[in-house]
Amino acid sequence: MEDKVTLTIGDNSYDCPVISGTEDEKAFDIRKLRSESGYISFDEGYGNTGSCQSNITFIDGEKGILRYRGYSIEELAEGSSFLESTYLIIYGELPNQDQLDKFREKVRVNADIHVGMDHHFEGFPTGSNPMAILSAMLNSLGCYYPEMTTNNRQQDLERFDEAAAVLLSKVRTIAAMTFRMKEGKPFVYPKRDLRYCENFLHMMFSNPYDDFEDEYGLAEALDLFFLLHADHEQNCSTSTVRMVASGGANMFASVSAGVSALWGPLHGGANQAVIGMLSQIHEAGDDGMKFIEAAKSGNAKLMGFGHRVYKNYDPRARILGEAAEKVLAAIGIDDDPLLKIARNLERAALEDKYFIERKLYPNVDFYSGLILKAAGIPVEFFTVMFAIGRMPGWMANWREVASNKKSKIHRPRQIYQGPGQREFLPMEKRG
Ligand code: CMC
Repeated sequence: MEDKVTLTIGDNSYDCPVISGTEDEKAFDIRKLRSESGYISFDEGYGNTGSCQSNITFIDGEKGILRYRGYSIEELAEGSSFLESTYLIIYGELPNQDQLDKFREKVRVNADIHVGMDHHFEGFPTGSNPMAILSAMLNSLGCYYPEMTTNNRQQDLERFDEAAAVLLSKVRTIAAMTFRMKEGKPFVYPKRDLRYCENFLHMMFSNPYDDFEDEYGLAEALDLFFLLHADHEQNCSTSTVRMVASGGANMFASVSAGVSALWGPLHGGANQAVIGMLSQIHEAGDDGMKFIEAAKSGNAKLMGFGHRVYKNYDPRARILGEAAEKVLAAIGIDDDPLLKIARNLERAALEDKYFIERKLYPNVDFYSGLILKAAGIPVEFFTVMFAIGRMPGWMANWREVASNKKSKIHRPRQIYQGPGQREFLPMEKRG
C-alpha cells in the first residue's frame, strides 16, 4: 500500500503521508500543504474530510455496518442495555458485572437535580421548545459543579467519571421536568429503586397518587431506542461537541452545544418531521404514493430517508422498524395507519429508480417516532429523546479530545468570496 500521496500543482509536487484506519480506510494528510504550497483543500459540508482520528465508533456506510468500540450494533441491541453500551462507549470495554453494578449505582444516585434548578424552569414560557430548555439547562447544570467545569482539561478529566454520571442521569430528569412544566403538572422526583428508563417514564407520567405502570414494556423499547442512538461518529452534533471541546471548554458546555446542533430537522429533528410527514399523508387520504411522487419531483423531502454516510440500509432503522411493530402490537395498535404508511413508503422507495440511484434508504429516524409516539412521548420531545440517547457519544468524544495532548483547536479555513478592500465612506458621502 502507498505510504504517501503526491499532489502536483503546476511544476511542483508535494508528498502527503497516508494514514490508515483499523478497517483500512485511507486518508492523506494535508496538514502541511498550506505552509508548503499556499493551497488549502475545499470540502464544504465536510463530506470527504476526516476531522479527527477516533477509537469510538466505526461506520461502513456502503455496507450498512455500525459498531461501537468494535461490537456490532445488532449484537449490542440483542444482548446489551443502554447503560452497558454507554459504559462501553465511554470507557472502551464492556464492563464486567461488578463494573456495571458500580456504574449503574453512580447513575442511580445522581438522578435528582439541585432544588435551585427547579426555579430555572419558572423562567421559561410554557411555549418554549424543549430543545432550547435542555441546552440551557445542561449548561446551567454545570454551574452547580464548578469542580467539573474548570475549563482546565486536566482537572476536568480527573472528574470525568463523576461528571459523566451526573450528565447521563440528570439529562433524563431535566427532560422529564421540562415535560411536566409544559403540561402545568407538578414535578415528579426520581425513585432510587427504578432502572434508567423506568425512572424516566415514572418522572414523565406518574402522578401524586397514581404511579405510572409500564403495562406494555415501554421501558425496554426506550432502552433500545437510546442504545441505538448512543453514538454515530462525526455527525453534526458530535463534531460540534468536539469543536467546542477543542477550545478547552468543559464537558457540560460542550454537550449543551451538541444539543443545539442536534435540534435541526436535517439532523436529530428529523424524527419529529417524520411523524409530521406521516400524519400529513394520512390526513390527505394518501397511501404514500402521491408523496413519493412529490419527493421525486423535488416538491417534498421524504423525511427519515437518506444519510450522508449510509448508502445502504441504516442498520438502526432495521432494528427500530421491527421494534416499532412489536411495541404497537403489545399496545394493541398493530393496525396503526401511520405504521402502514411508513411501510408503504419504504417499500415504494426501495423499488423506485429515483431512490435506488441516489442510494436513499430509511435512516434511524424513519421508525423511531412511531415507538416514541406509542410510548406517549409528545412529538416536540422526540429530539430531546435523541439527545438523551446521544449523551454517551458526546461524552466519549469530549473525553477523546480532552485527553489528546496533541489535540489542536479546531479552526477550519475558508475561501473568501466577499468584496476586495474598499475605502470607508463617511455617512454624508454614502448614497
Ligand atoms: N428525499 C428525497 N430526496 C432526497 C432525500 C430525501 N430524504 N435525501 C436526499 N435526497 C436527494 C437529494 O435531493 C439529492 O438529489 P439530486 O442529486 O437530484 O440533487 C440527492 O438525494 C443527494 O442528497 P443530498 O442532500 O446532497 O445528501 P446529503 O448527504 O447532503 O444529505 C441528509 C443527507 C440526511 C441531510 C438528506 O438525505 C436528508 O435531508 N434527509 C431527510 C432528513 C433526515 O431524515 N435526516 C436524518 C438523518 S439520520 C439522523 C442523523 O444522523 O441526524
